[in-house]
Amino acid sequence: MIYQISELQRLGQGCSKIVYQHPEDNNKIIKIMNPDLVSEGGGWQNHTFKSKLSNGVYKQFRRELLQYLELCKTNYHDNKFQFPIETPYGFAMTSHGLGLITEKIVSPNGQGITLFELSRDKKFTDKHAKALAEFYDACCDLHIVYGEVNIAGIMYTESRNNKPEFVLVDGIGEKLFLPIRSLFKSINTKNIRKMQKRIDAEIQVLLNAHS
Ligand SMILES: Nc1ncnc2c1ncn2[C@@H]1O[C@H](COP(=O)(O)OP(=O)(O)O)[C@@H](O)[C@H]1O
Ligand SMILES: [Mg+2]
Repeated sequence: MIYQISELQRLGQGCSKIVYQHPEDNNKIIKIMNPDLVSEGGGWQNHTFKSKLSNGVYKQFRRELLQYLELCKTNYHDNKFQFPIETPYGFAMTSHGLGLITEKIVSPNGQGITLFELSRDKKFTDKHAKALAEFYDACCDLHIVYGEVNIAGIMYTESRNNKPEFVLVDGIGEKLFLPIRSLFKSINTKNIRKMQKRIDAEIQVLLNAHS
């Protein structure tokens, strides 16, 4: 079964991916690489060197899947499959390349809401601040590795575990050639705490901005 992208409902878009509602499961989404940015050979257009790297545009999927597998491995004993990152469910074939099927993160208003939108719309309250602090702590604890995380890549939900919760949907997995963050938990924790400071500062700027 190959899904026709033109028939799917678009839910979101970032600088590299487009996100669609899964047509058969309301709780899932399909992420594809923006076809406008992909070259004939499956690399990024305008990146001659990068396009030659293995997996081309799908490298992001690979990083995310490797990180998920690592978490399942580390937590094998507890039979734990859910972490503060979106849960990947597999692949979908689409008219515009391979899609990654993942868990859909929905906010209490029934739509997806990112940390950026919460802050921009001045809807970020104490309950969000507490959930966000718990998110960073859990990422340190679980040794979750990110590349670049931006504030539109962290989403808010209350329906995942019946409590306020933030979930990472973008930038998941080791990006460094020398995987020092994966190898050393202490280095990874330092990186997460650095990101926490940066993101918290960005939230304050958005909250204080005049709309
Ligand atoms: N798991 C998800 N559930 C619901 N919406 C999502 C999910 N992942 C991404 N989105 C929406 O799609 C947008 C782009 O997705 P993202 O993975 O961040 O792509 P990019 O790598 O291009 O930035 C997000 O900012 C968010 O609005
Ligand atoms: Mg993004």
